[in-house]
Amino acid sequence: MKSENPQETPLDPEKLPAHVAMIMDGNGRWAKKRLMNRVKGHEKGSQTVRSIVTAARELGIGMLTLYAFSTENWSRPRVEVKALMMLLKRFLVSERDELMGQGVRLNILGQKEKLPVDIQREAERTVQMTQNNQGMVLNLALSYGSRQEITAGVQTLAEKIKTGLIQPVDITEEMISDHLYTRKMPDPDLIIRTSGEFRLSNFMMWQAAYSELFVTNTLWPDFTKDEFIEILINFQERDRRFGKVKCSTSNDGSPQ
Ligand code: FPP
Repeated sequence: MKSENPQETPLDPEKLPAHVAMIMDGNGRWAKKRLMNRVKGHEKGSQTVRSIVTAARELGIGMLTLYAFSTENWSRPRVEVKALMMLLKRFLVSERDELMGQGVRLNILGQKEKLPVDIQREAERTVQMTQNNQGMVLNLALSYGSRQEITAGVQTLAEKIKTGLIQPVDITEEMISDHLYTRKMPDPDLIIRTSGEFRLSNFMMWQAAYSELFVTNTLWPDFTKDEFIEILINFQERDRRFGKVKCSTSNDGSPQ
């Protein structure tokens, strides 16, 4: 989907990443800096989620994935987990009209069955309601962890081998991709992490094979559309070779 207002930014609409994924980090530090409770950081972070979803849609990004709750986040203090679930529920309910208005289709990636039943119900409603929207796909990674995702995929493949449906030699990279939460989705072209930490934190480890990575020191609650555009400009300036050499070099590697 192209931008509704492409002349608004210096971005080349032909070179936009098809799939941008974001590790939204730094809510806790944002709150701590202001001598506030961590939950306040998550509340402000939720507002950033809303503005970045709208920004991505306006900029013409086809797919946006937000790492909202990891498999490890269940180990946080109960009160924080509860607050995060409340914010997720609020988002799933209050943003329905907005998602419909913007033509955004929602998917949930992760262990849906581990989520509280009311969240499962609201998530399912929003997913159903938005399923025919064509504008942008928004993936919320909830109770998501790459290792769990790959483990579950391997278990399904092992079952298929056990029942004789496939042989071990039949397993291909495509088949593994098809057994992940992101089946049929493009790999992320760009993964942005806020708050200055240089790690993937169990996020899209299979899918990130050739993703461009961008780490900003900005804490998630302070992340803006303007900075998102700057990162997209940086992405468009990068030389993606996917492990190959440029066509403009000869077989011995010397420039043609
Ligand atoms: C990481 O910051 C952020 C999270 C674990 C949760 C992300 C949640 C939101 C942005 C709000 C709710 C989401 C939606 C989709 C409405 P952190 O708490 O680890 O920060 P810290 O590293 O500074 O402590």
